[in-house]
Amino acid sequence: MDFLVYLLSMLCLLSQCTAQWCYQSQYSCDDTCRDPVHWAAQFPSCGGLRQSPINIVTSKVHVNSELPPFSFIGHTNTINVTVENKGHSAHFALPQLVRLTGGGLPGHYRAAQFHFHWGRNGRPGSEHTIDGERFPMELHIVHIKEPYGSLAEAEHDMAGIALLAFLFEETTEDHPHLNTVIAALGRVQNNGSSTVIRNFQLSDIIPSAEELHSYYRYVGSMTTPGCEQAVAWTVFHKTLSISSRQLDAIVQQCRFWTGQPMIDIFRPTQPLDGRVVYRSQAGAALTGSIQLWLGVVSALLALWI
Ligand SMILES: *[C@@H]1O[C@H](CO)[C@@H](O)[C@H](O)[C@H]1NC(C)=O
Ligand SMILES: [Zn+2]
Repeated sequence: MDFLVYLLSMLCLLSQCTAQWCYQSQYSCDDTCRDPVHWAAQFPSCGGLRQSPINIVTSKVHVNSELPPFSFIGHTNTINVTVENKGHSAHFALPQLVRLTGGGLPGHYRAAQFHFHWGRNGRPGSEHTIDGERFPMELHIVHIKEPYGSLAEAEHDMAGIALLAFLFEETTEDHPHLNTVIAALGRVQNNGSSTVIRNFQLSDIIPSAEELHSYYRYVGSMTTPGCEQAVAWTVFHKTLSISSRQLDAIVQQCRFWTGQPMIDIFRPTQPLDGRVVYRSQAGAALTGSIQLWLGVVSALLALWI
């Protein structure tokens, strides 16, 4: 009997119980990988009450005057970036000289890596949605709070990780600096392969901190297992541009660890579970002036009629 239990637990260890996680787009019924709704069976945090991504309902966000602009450090330094296909997405490793502070965060944070979430041909693939709208692509820049050295060390601190999220909007013109990123993805088509982008600056792909004073903030988690609930999320108002040609090129290049095309790499949105999404004051000022303007227009219309 004991032996049977042992055998079963060994089988369990060898198959489902240590099954790899996968995205919905990879999953088929005869697969042993865990799709997003089953991540929590193996990674308990994924079933927690502070999960990401979320849908941001703009009419329900709370304005918070304690959310000042960020200070970016090292974003204009010329760096070499190692790109690796991690089987679920491609990571662009950043050196420790790239840091940030401000933004209402408690301390300094060191950049670790950035990566993208995308959909498939003609279908959007951002993780966060705004009033239910999914954007073509989303950039995540992962930062670890000092003095922590790793995600494992930071995961017990509710703000141990700072994640910056940029949503992309489709344009007719190419984004001038995304072609090096696209070319690098073409060199890491298979799980485990890697390449280097030389002479890269983070400021090539994201705006300066002064242009990013308007953002949403909430507490959440990593959007891949183990879904660690240690993330102070920042989702910027300002979108980045990408042409449809560049978007097509991005979604067609990489493969998952299962060998299938790496498409629809986003987690479904998670319940808010009572959390509040805050908006920095700069965003409020903008909306406030629009409301004032609408007030003036409607007063004038009333006079006219
Ligand atoms: C980037 O790599 C090149 C070639 O290996 C090297 O000469 C250069 O010093 C590196 N730059 C940085 C900032 O590390
Ligand atoms: Zn991400």
